[in-house]
Amino acid sequence: MPDSRWGMPPISHQIPGLRSIINSIRWFPRKFWKVPMFCNYPVKIHLDKEAVFSIDGRVFFMALPEMVEAYSAKMAGCRSAIIIREKGSLTVGDGTLIGPGVRFNIGQGAEVRVGSRTLLNENCNIYSREKVSIGDDCAISWGVKIMDTDFHVLVRDGKRLPESAPVVIEDHVWIGSDATVLKGVRIGKNSVVGAGAVVTHDVPPGTVVAGNPARFIHQEMSWHWM
Ligand SMILES: CC(C)(COP(=O)(O)OP(=O)(O)OC[C@H]1O[C@@H](n2cnc3c(N)ncnc32)[C@H](O)[C@@H]1OP(=O)(O)O)[C@@H](O)C(=O)NCCC(=O)NCCS
Repeated sequence: MPDSRWGMPPISHQIPGLRSIINSIRWFPRKFWKVPMFCNYPVKIHLDKEAVFSIDGRVFFMALPEMVEAYSAKMAGCRSAIIIREKGSLTVGDGTLIGPGVRFNIGQGAEVRVGSRTLLNENCNIYSREKVSIGDDCAISWGVKIMDTDFHVLVRDGKRLPESAPVVIEDHVWIGSDATVLKGVRIGKNSVVGAGAVVTHDVPPGTVVAGNPARFIHQEMSWHWM
């Protein structure tokens, strides 16, 4: 059994409304009856020529069920945005939950993959110009930023440094609120990143890191959903 919070939201939260049906018909006409996009807030999607957005199963664009009451309707109504430039791609696995205010900004030819049963909580931002991969059963908290590029070019001793490098977040990683993950980083399976951390180097599996720049605070740790 995977340790997951999002494999099966309560059935009362799985009755698709008009928004889910319209989005599913618009973006997934060949399998719309399976309601691949289950949405309880507006989702803005822009696909350039030859950009690909695919869902394997069903993805929940919704505020966490237990938080809907705690947040105002306006907050829960914040839209998410998926912008994919020419030949870029986004693939999201079954049972993943994407909270309001999440933004995917995927550049030309870049590739973003999010696994199954993962949580991308409110206001996460994922910026890709190369490749970002997020595993299964991850908890990516409020306001986390993941970017595989600096967006600007650094020149050292007259030589242009590489501005992008892939980011890999392996399965069952928990990234605390407002953390930032920078280019070229691999975060190993079962690891934890503390709130507000800036991750600039690889994190070995089963490790807790925190701070700016992120440093080990515990080793051989595990975590699980509440
Ligand atoms: C990373 C975290 C899980 C570690 O918890 P912990 O194991 O109880 O941490 P400890 O209290 O043992 O802290 C160990 C050291 O790391 C420091 N530390 C812990 N979290 C830190 C953080 N986020 N940033 C900087 N330093 C941190 C502590 O100050 C302590 O330093 P010291 O030894 O100099 O006193 C926790 O601090 C955290 O950041 N949680 C994220 C919560 C969150 O964002 N939840 C969102 C829900 S998805």
